[in-house]
Amino acid sequence: MKTVVISLGGSILIPSLEKNKIREYVPVLEEIAAHHRLFVVVGGGGEARRYITVVRTLGIDEGTSDEIGILVTRLNANLLIAALGDAAYPKVAESHAEAKKFAESRKIVIMGGITPGQTTDAVAAVLAERVGASVFINVTSVDGIYSADPKKDKKARRYDTLTPQQLLDIVGVTALTAGSNTVLDIVAARIVERSHIPLVVLDGRDPENLSRAILTGKFTGSIVSEKKKKILPL
Ligand code: UTP
Repeated sequence: MKTVVISLGGSILIPSLEKNKIREYVPVLEEIAAHHRLFVVVGGGGEARRYITVVRTLGIDEGTSDEIGILVTRLNANLLIAALGDAAYPKVAESHAEAKKFAESRKIVIMGGITPGQTTDAVAAVLAERVGASVFINVTSVDGIYSADPKKDKKARRYDTLTPQQLLDIVGVTALTAGSNTVLDIVAARIVERSHIPLVVLDGRDPENLSRAILTGKFTGSIVSEKKKKILPL
């Protein structure tokens, strides 16, 4: 049994409350948890963005806006816990230490955000370090990591594998552009570099792509690792 940490983007799981993919993700997460120790960090998705827009319209500071974003990630995390029923630990972990403690139950541990000034990608990257994960998986709405934004640059190439330094170079450039939406937040990319834990960025629009990646190694996405050794299947 290996340890897996998943950053499950809110834009994948709950792009909006009406169009959520929770029902499809429940069997996928249960299947992975039958073989491995599983932690899932849930993002804020469309609802977080809507709240944050309102907060900004009201002229409220960014730190408060982050706190409200965190509350929405935890609300989404609660929804996932409720949908998973007995398979999940019944409370959202509010710190990495709490997540470790909850894992003693051998159930799936779910987190949301924890501290202002970052995203749930960073929460998940640090969690991967703290629980000694074999792999850190970022579930997104793109089919992998590109050398540049493929919507803007026709010459952008998709990587099957890349090094943490290459990831930092890509994410660093994009992060400088206002309003950009990078494939992984830069804090998380730095943690991936220092932790030496392999990162897999995969397309979660098809939920089964996630279980296929972990259990069979056949998936659509990119692997970030220093070493050439085989990362998946676990
Ligand atoms: P997300 O992690 O969901 O950000 O957190 P995101 O980049 O919009 O990702 P997707 O679309 O869900 O995949 C939502 C917001 O909550 C606050 C930030 O304001 C973030 O933009 N947040 C989240 C924090 O301040 N700290 C955290 O630890 C997590």
